Amino acid sequence: MSNNNRQVLLASRPQGWVTEDNFRIVDAPMPAPDAGEVLVRNEWLSLDPYMRGRMSDAKSYVQPVQIGEVMVGQTAGEVVASRDPAFRRGDKVLAPLGWQLFGVAKGRDLTAIDVARAPASYYLGVLGMPGITAWFGLHEIGRPKPGETLVVSAASGAVGSVVGQLARIAGCRTVGIAGGGTKCDYVVKELGFDACVDHKAGNLAQDLREACTKGVDIDFENVGGAVLDTVLAIMNRSSRVIVCGLISDYNATEPYAYKRLRSVLVNRIHMQGMIVFDWKDRYGEAVAGLSKHLAQGKLKSRESIVEGLDNAPRGLIALLKGENFGKQLVRLV
Ligand SMILES: NC(=O)c1ccc[n+]([C@@H]2O[C@H](COP(=O)([O-])OP(=O)(O)OC[C@H]3O[C@@H](n4cnc5c(N)ncnc54)[C@H](OP(=O)(O)O)[C@@H]3O)[C@@H](O)[C@H]2O)c1
Repeated sequence: MSNNNRQVLLASRPQGWVTEDNFRIVDAPMPAPDAGEVLVRNEWLSLDPYMRGRMSDAKSYVQPVQIGEVMVGQTAGEVVASRDPAFRRGDKVLAPLGWQLFGVAKGRDLTAIDVARAPASYYLGVLGMPGITAWFGLHEIGRPKPGETLVVSAASGAVGSVVGQLARIAGCRTVGIAGGGTKCDYVVKELGFDACVDHKAGNLAQDLREACTKGVDIDFENVGGAVLDTVLAIMNRSSRVIVCGLISDYNATEPYAYKRLRSVLVNRIHMQGMIVFDWKDRYGEAVAGLSKHLAQGKLKSRESIVEGLDNAPRGLIALLKGENFGKQLVRLV
């Protein structure tokens, strides 16, 4: 085991698209745990679209990363030394330790994970924050009923792939929107969606209309912008829009100008933003439900893996450009 720590720091705030110059990679001293703390060797780092927001100092629902600080992020790893009686050397844990090889956390901020039940990386994806987001967004806001039509954008991604599979389980007709034929084929053939529309093919409005002949009852929105505007045009009366993410806007210098808000009025659409933290007291419920579906073979997941901490900036840039195919992770060991 390496005894050196290494970290990726935020070097500057991006203007528009993130670049590798926005990060600085440094060697760092090995941290030592105080009473109540645990030293963790990170094995997996999750890369998530929200990280773009933390790099900026625009007002948001959480504080930004400061220049010179370690980039934030969730990790899965192994306990190396513990001064909290609840954890022992060798335990596998989820930790909020960010873009670094080793880190110290309070024991109360760690979650034990069972790697006999699923690989550690799954606790950052299908059984982790993205899966939990899909679970509560769909069930609590979408309230799917059998026979309804659900559309989900970024359908092959970490959140979208789970949303569509859960909607199928709930008896919905499930239509994905994804970028490119390969992702669309995967969504239909591997994940079992009823249809998938390629938003890069140039015919989104017509292709979506053909895939949703009875209109749309639930839109699980991960992308926003032109994609959301197009779906709004075919929403049914009393339909629901779960505003989970607006990734098409995260690197834009001007916000997208929506043209179809009239549909919200005319169709009495219930449109609600969601932040997964709002259900933090109930995460166990979602993980239990997701684990059950996974064990029964009803939930599949796919990972996009970047090798090594030094490649984490490249991984985040690829994710924001839609080059990932499944949950984006960095393998650290
Ligand atoms: N509200 C919450 O609590 C919460 C929690 C987790 C995630 N989220 C949000 O959920 C969304 C999905 O996150 P994720 O982690 O599952 O990521 P992901 O879907 O695995 O990856 C992002 C995907 O977004 C699509 N995309 C990127 N730029 C796009 C653009 N300009 N136009 C259309 N599609 C674009 C790409 O898919 P295609 O190639 O298929 O277009 C890309 O693969 C994000 O908006 C994220 O911020 C919200």
